[in-house]
Amino acid sequence: MPRERLSVVVTRRLPEAVETRLSELFDVRLRDDDTPMTREELAAAMRGADVLVPTLTDKIDAGLLAQVGERLRLIANYGAGVDHIDVATARQRGILVSNTPGVLTDDTADMTMALILAVTRRIPEGLAVMQRNEWTGWAPTALLGGRVGGRRLGILGMGRIGQAVARRARAFGMQIHYHNRRRLRPEIEETLEATYWESLDQMIARMDVISVNCPSTPSTFHLMNARRLKLMKPTGVIVNTSRGEVIDENALTRMIRSGEIAGAGLDVYEHGTQVNPRLRELPNVVLLPHMGSATLEGRIEMGEKVIINIKTFADGHRPPDQVVPAML
Ligand code: DGY
Repeated sequence: MPRERLSVVVTRRLPEAVETRLSELFDVRLRDDDTPMTREELAAAMRGADVLVPTLTDKIDAGLLAQVGERLRLIANYGAGVDHIDVATARQRGILVSNTPGVLTDDTADMTMALILAVTRRIPEGLAVMQRNEWTGWAPTALLGGRVGGRRLGILGMGRIGQAVARRARAFGMQIHYHNRRRLRPEIEETLEATYWESLDQMIARMDVISVNCPSTPSTFHLMNARRLKLMKPTGVIVNTSRGEVIDENALTRMIRSGEIAGAGLDVYEHGTQVNPRLRELPNVVLLPHMGSATLEGRIEMGEKVIINIKTFADGHRPPDQVVPAML
């Protein structure tokens, strides 16, 4: 007798190829519109399914998990970051959590480099001149930026994405420095020509560019707080393609406005879509709408990972990308 198909609820629209494959394999409920589910909708979806496929826009906290009953067995997150899910509480309730690591590494690292270049080479200001039709021709002193080659890049969080940023930045001639919970193996440090700093404070004070690439956890919340931001060189630039909560956004805004920090490139914000309005007014700040992993290829591969995680679970095994609280 054929086994009953798992019931799977997906909270957001996914690329068509992913939705089609999910429908072929599972008893799947897809979303017609692409707005995030309300908390009530999310709770109802979780009560009525074996598997939930959420995204980072769905806050799955202990309160919500307490309402979902007994049916839900797997949260197969469409995304690498799981800071929106209370993984420990899910585990206590017998619900596994998986994610999609690896497949968005290169795309996110590319975007990190794009932000470093955009800020240091003043690309949005040049674009604005062209869009306003104000260009009067080449001039020796117009829109002078800074050369990235030779600058010191301090990577905060040297996991997959941090290392991918390091490889790219090396190719641009930057000097690689990093701070991480654990020091990398010597052969990796050697390949990346990366210098480890045990003291984050000391690293920050000596860098030209800081790139935030660590996940958002209770211990990384405001890791770049006002005190640490003050340690940055006044010529320093900070970019963040990880999670907004790692930087104290108000402190950063104040310091860029007062000239204590030279610029910033941000793809993520402390309060989601509620971006500090003052940041938007600053010419030396480049803001993007959380699009670090936004390539069609990457988003399809994320879907493939979700499918493998669900299928493996359906076959009675641990999903290959299971997240356990000790990893966080
Ligand atoms: C993730 O998967 O966590 C990324 O932030 C999405 O871009």
